[in-house]
Amino acid sequence: MSSAGEASRPKVHVSRPVPEPAIDRLRSIAQVTVGPDRLASAQELLAATKDAVALLAMLTDRIDDGFLAACPRLRIVANCAVGFDNLDLAAGERQGVWLTNTPNVLTEATADLAFALLLAAARRIGEAERCLREGHYQGWGPLLFLGADLHERTLGIVGMGRIGSAVAQRAAGFGMNVLFCSRTPKTVAGATQVSFDALLAQSDFVSIHVPLNRETRHLINAAALAKMKKGAILVNTARGPIVDEGALAAALREGRLGGAGLDVYEEEPRVHPHLLAAPNAVLLPHIGSATAKARTAMATACADDICRVLGGEPPQNALNHPSRPRL
Ligand code: NAP
Ligand code: GLV
Ligand code: GLV
Repeated sequence: MSSAGEASRPKVHVSRPVPEPAIDRLRSIAQVTVGPDRLASAQELLAATKDAVALLAMLTDRIDDGFLAACPRLRIVANCAVGFDNLDLAAGERQGVWLTNTPNVLTEATADLAFALLLAAARRIGEAERCLREGHYQGWGPLLFLGADLHERTLGIVGMGRIGSAVAQRAAGFGMNVLFCSRTPKTVAGATQVSFDALLAQSDFVSIHVPLNRETRHLINAAALAKMKKGAILVNTARGPIVDEGALAAALREGRLGGAGLDVYEEEPRVHPHLLAAPNAVLLPHIGSATAKARTAMATACADDICRVLGGEPPQNALNHPSRPRL
């Protein structure tokens, strides 16, 4: 296309580089700009999006009333994540902007990572590997890095949605007993629904799979941690602010909890210094959905919804339903 033709096409901004198939899909209908491969400031994102009709956003982009008002041509923000605590749905509604996410396509990848953290914390894989790499391995030992069994122990799943269910399936394969809590009554084969407090009291492992919202912020606080079994292991692949990190670090330091496996933090990319110092915490840099297949499918789902909206159709993964969508 000539540069004059290119300039007359609608502009779509992609806030970070994503797998190529998604960019190609967008290029077939629009002029596409791609942000830098690092966290951009709110001002940088705004400068790049203010004349765009669509934004393919990351979970690190905060999309609120002010942002949508400053981008008057924006018709859709497609969030390249299933979690959407970075989006103000009511603002989208008010301003006539569709907001979407990427459910399902990352469920199995994220459940795998939750299980990887569960195993790593149970079997002290981070600690043991650090010992070896630091040259301290002196040969096999009968008491070397004794950890916890999964088999016939109890896993408590907080939030039995898509990812929680996929984690429950994995737990069944490992011969675990599965408890769960959710706000609504549910039947899940091989798993028993209990209250939040009963789950905390009875589980050897607790894995968090609720979204972050007003109700779940600091759901795992000092009081909740005190209800957990001594030596239990906490896994969080949901969102950092669901757990009070200071209280978690104290429970690990005092030996009340046996370990933790974390993919998410209260103030990413900052990690609480007491967690960094805790040998029994396995710490990952928010890579739950980071497989080539899942990330390609997530970005492509976003591109598809952007194409739908720019073509005059409602998006497939709508989180809101603006009564008067911008045209
Ligand atoms: P989902 O299918 O919506 O599942 C969440 C479940 O949580 C729902 O079934 C809901 O069931 C339950 N829930 C909500 N509030 C609750 C509460 N206060 N107490 C107990 N249960 C509650 O979502 P998903 O696809 O499984 O994703 C879950 C979260 O994982 C996302 O929101 C995201 O933050 C996180 N995530 C992180 C990564 C990563 O990279 N680490 C990757 C993907 C997803 P009820 O309505 O019955 O309560
Ligand atoms: C990742 O954290 C997601 O919510 O998809
Ligand atoms: C351990 O390596 C064993 O053979 O039991």
